[in-house]
Amino acid sequence: MSGKSSFEYPGERATVSWDGKLCIHIGECGRATGELFVGGRKPWCQPDAATDDEVEEVVLRCPTGALSVRFSDGTDPERPPAENTLNVAYNGPLFVRGDLQIDGAPDNVPGLRFRAALCRCGHSKNKPYCDNSHEAAEFRDYGAVGDAGGEIDEPGGPLSIKPLQDGPVLVKGNLTVLASGGRKAWQGTQAAFCRCGESGNKPFCDGAHKKAGFKSE
Ligand code: FES
Repeated sequence: MSGKSSFEYPGERATVSWDGKLCIHIGECGRATGELFVGGRKPWCQPDAATDDEVEEVVLRCPTGALSVRFSDGTDPERPPAENTLNVAYNGPLFVRGDLQIDGAPDNVPGLRFRAALCRCGHSKNKPYCDNSHEAAEFRDYGAVGDAGGEIDEPGGPLSIKPLQDGPVLVKGNLTVLASGGRKAWQGTQAAFCRCGESGNKPFCDGAHKKAGFKSE
């Protein structure tokens, strides 16, 4: 991941980091009330214009991991959520939150420890992460989930995310899958999610990547 796309916004107490390659402009930061992020202002992010609690709350809204924060005493306020979730976005990526262990994740993007948007259309130039290429590709999948899965003993814990070469992304650990409408649709401890965009059983892989000649690199 290039350093050129990463920016830091230092304040007296909090420093906010933003990674432009991961940002897909969902706007959770810009639409938040308050003065932390103000479009058109320079710099647009000013941590000293908000309380520590506001900085933490707004930064952790970011669903892609592009935003993160650390405080001047060296602390990172982010902790894994109690429940690992994967939300299948309407015509968009897989939004994952949890105690993420993403294979190959850059260690200079702390947001990816807990939040990520994974490409599922097959077109991202920044695989395994979404870069909004699904829009130009006119990817269509409304995020319904047919399979119900099984049971899990507990909702959280480490969640291993391993993008397989020219194939799906393998997820291992306690996981709850949310359909795009918000329904808790599937639970289990292991699943392979389609990232080529061709599965007939989205969001899960059905082997169609082979026939499609999907290349993950
Ligand atoms: S990755 Fe799409 S069907 Fe397997």
